[in-house]
Amino acid sequence: MPGACVSGEARAAALEPRLSWVGWCCSYCSAPLEVHAHGLFCRAEGRWFATLDGVHRLLPEDRRRELAPAVEMYQRVRRDDGWRAHPGLPEVPRGDRHAAVWRQRSARFEQAVSLVRARLGPGPWRVLDVGAGCCWASARLLRAGHRTAAVDVSLDAEDGLRAAPLLVPSGCVLERAEADMEAIPIEPAAFDLVLAAASLHHAPRPGRTLIELRRVTRRDGLLLVLDSPVYRRRPDGEAMVAARMRAQARRYGVAMDRERQSGYLVRDELPDLFRSTGWSLEVHGWPGPFREWARDMVEIPRRGRRTARFPILLARRDG
Ligand SMILES: C[S@@+](CC[C@H](N)C(=O)[O-])C[C@H]1O[C@@H](n2cnc3c(N)ncnc32)[C@H](O)[C@@H]1O
Repeated sequence: MPGACVSGEARAAALEPRLSWVGWCCSYCSAPLEVHAHGLFCRAEGRWFATLDGVHRLLPEDRRRELAPAVEMYQRVRRDDGWRAHPGLPEVPRGDRHAAVWRQRSARFEQAVSLVRARLGPGPWRVLDVGAGCCWASARLLRAGHRTAAVDVSLDAEDGLRAAPLLVPSGCVLERAEADMEAIPIEPAAFDLVLAAASLHHAPRPGRTLIELRRVTRRDGLLLVLDSPVYRRRPDGEAMVAARMRAQARRYGVAMDRERQSGYLVRDELPDLFRSTGWSLEVHGWPGPFREWARDMVEIPRRGRRTARFPILLARRDG
């Protein structure tokens, strides 16, 4: 079998199954996987998924190939823009070029966690961090005593799942898997909280992803969407994507593919998007009409468009 997914009943039989609190499932047949020292084994299909550098390689081979060009470009842009994990995130040293962004993200994260605590109680919660990147948020949740698992399609050692050891507190275990947020290889209703921090707008089909996130959330469980750009009007979001594509085309000298760009959400579409995918949504931190008007007065003459807002989207599994 190609890539990280190798077959071998003999190999599996030689290794004793271990315990994991996460119900990992086969990404081909959805059967429960046995956890072994160096990988996960699907007894139903005799399929072996390697665990490399602590990351279960659960992405099906054809999906990995399909995603590769977008993931490689994303990793390149992130590296060139100076996004790198380091211990202590979201706290960053003074002078870090992204210090202002991390300050805002950190404050929003703390506010969002308080909102979750008010609804779920003190925990410990079972949490899935989707599109976890370097796993800074997972590390925070582990530090607060919650059980956390992380999935992402990027294995980058500085900005993706392989960067997590820099952040995870010693003595804590963070279960990590290379997996697609559209098809999460985990049993249904496994989590009290699913967190999508700066990741939902990377989903090419947010509705489909929201349905998948609901599948792995327990009844009455929560979904927290943070740091995804939300525009009041679709043309402003499109203008942002077009400007970014032009800047990347200039920087790398290649034509950019719209299909491989991350997107945005639209304020007025949120209630319907969440309702139709089985969530009841609360929006926290959306500016009032006067602040919106005042920002329009500044932004439209200066930039020709409105910038994004980053509200906290907190949704409860509806039924
Ligand atoms: C802006 S980063 C956010 C990382 C991290 N959650 C944070 O808060 O900094 C977006 C992440 O989404 C991941 N991603 C994009 N498409 C994905 C997909 N289909 N499934 C899982 N993760 C995905 C990217 O690899 C990237 O790590």
